[in-house]
Amino acid sequence: MQIIAVANQKGGCGKTTTAINLAACLAKSKQNVLLMDLDPQAHATLGVNINPEHLDKSMYEVLTPHPERKRRLDEVIINISDNFDLAPANIVLSAIEQELSGKPEREAKLFQAISLMVTNKTYDFIIIDCSPSLGVLTFNALRAAQYLIAPVDTGFFALQGIARLLETVNLINRYLSVKIKTCALITMYDKRTRFAREVKDEIYKYFSGQVFNPVIHNNVRLREASSYGLPVIEYDQRSRGAEDYTALAREVIEMWPASAREGKVTVSADEKKDKQDLVKTPARFVFHAPEASSVEIAGDFNSWVASQESKLKQEEPGVWSKVFYLEPGRYQYKFVVDGKWCTDPKNPHTEKDKTGNINSLLLID
Ligand SMILES: Nc1ncnc2c1ncn2[C@@H]1O[C@H](COP(=O)(O)OP(=O)(O)OP(=O)(O)O)[C@@H](O)[C@H]1O
Ligand SMILES: [Mg+2]
Repeated sequence: MQIIAVANQKGGCGKTTTAINLAACLAKSKQNVLLMDLDPQAHATLGVNINPEHLDKSMYEVLTPHPERKRRLDEVIINISDNFDLAPANIVLSAIEQELSGKPEREAKLFQAISLMVTNKTYDFIIIDCSPSLGVLTFNALRAAQYLIAPVDTGFFALQGIARLLETVNLINRYLSVKIKTCALITMYDKRTRFAREVKDEIYKYFSGQVFNPVIHNNVRLREASSYGLPVIEYDQRSRGAEDYTALAREVIEMWPASAREGKVTVSADEKKDKQDLVKTPARFVFHAPEASSVEIAGDFNSWVASQESKLKQEEPGVWSKVFYLEPGRYQYKFVVDGKWCTDPKNPHTEKDKTGNINSLLLID
C-alpha cells in the first residue's frame, strides 16, 4: 500500500484536482484506490459528486478523540466506482484542529486509523487531499504518508509556502523511521508564456530535479469536470487534462513501489564503506507487548535471523525497542514475539515477499 499526500500551503495550486484525477486514473489502470479528503472545504468529496452536507459520517469521526463519536476508517468509506473509494470530508472536520490540540500523539491519529482499518480489500494507493493550511490535519497526512506530491502552479508566487512545507517534511523525517519522499508536480502550465517556462526552471532547481516528468497543462476541461463532480477521464477522455493525469498515473505506478535505487554508480569497496557510514540512518523499531517475555526482529537488514543480536530491549514495562543503523534502501521485516512471527502493528506499510508472505516495509532514503 502506497500512501501519498498531496499538499502545498499555497491555495489553489491544483492539490484537489490532482488528488481526484490521479486517484481516478490509477483506478482506471486497475489499481485499488482510496481517495481521502482531509480538507474541511470538502472539495475532493464534491469533486466525485458526493454532497458533504448529506453525510452522517466523515473523516471527522475517524480522527475525533471523542470515543462516543469515533468510527473506524473503513466505516466511513464510500464506493465511487470500480476500484475507487472515497473517505469523505465535511465542514465538521475543521473541529479536529481544536479537538486534538494538546492531545498526545495528535499527529499520529491518521496513521493509527489506517493501521486499524478492517477491510478485506487491499488498497494499492491511498491518495490524501490536504488543505492549504499546515495544521494538525496536514501533519497527520504527512505522518501517515510515504510520499508527498507537491503540486506547484506556474503563476506568480508559485513557490510561496513551499519552503515551510519542505521544512515540515524534514522535521517529520528526522523523527520517523519511514521517511517521506517528496516530488513536485508542475500544474496549470501554459507553455506559450515565457514566465511559466521560467517558473518551471525554478521549480526544477528548487526541488533538485525531484519533479514528475508529466506536466499538467492549463486545461479548462479540468475546471469543468470538477464542477460536474466528475474526474476528467470520465468527463472528456480526449482532453489534455485527461492525457496529463493518465501520464502522471503511469509514472506513479512505475515509480512506486519500484523505488528501489536502480542505476546507482558503482564504487570501490573502501569508497562504499565510507559512503555507507555517512549515509546510515538510525531506524528505531518499537513493539508494545506487556505480556511478552522476548521480542526479536528479523528482516532484510539482518538476513532474517532472529538471534541474540536481534533481541529488542524492554526500555519501560511492555515497550520493547531496538535501533539499527541502516543505509538507504528498502527493508522488509517482522517481529518475533515469544517465537511467533508478526508484522509491525504500528506500521501500515506492508509488502509481499517472493513467496507471498506479508511483511512490514521500511524505506530509508
Ligand atoms: N490544470 C488546470 N487547468 C485549469 N484549471 C485548473 C487546473 N488545475 C486546477 N484548476 C482549477 O483551479 C482551481 C483550483 O484548483 P484546486 O481546487 O485543485 O486547487 P487546490 O490547491 O486544491 O486549492 P485549495 O488550496 O483551496 O485546496 C479549481 O477551480 C480547479 O478546477
Ligand atoms: Mg483543495
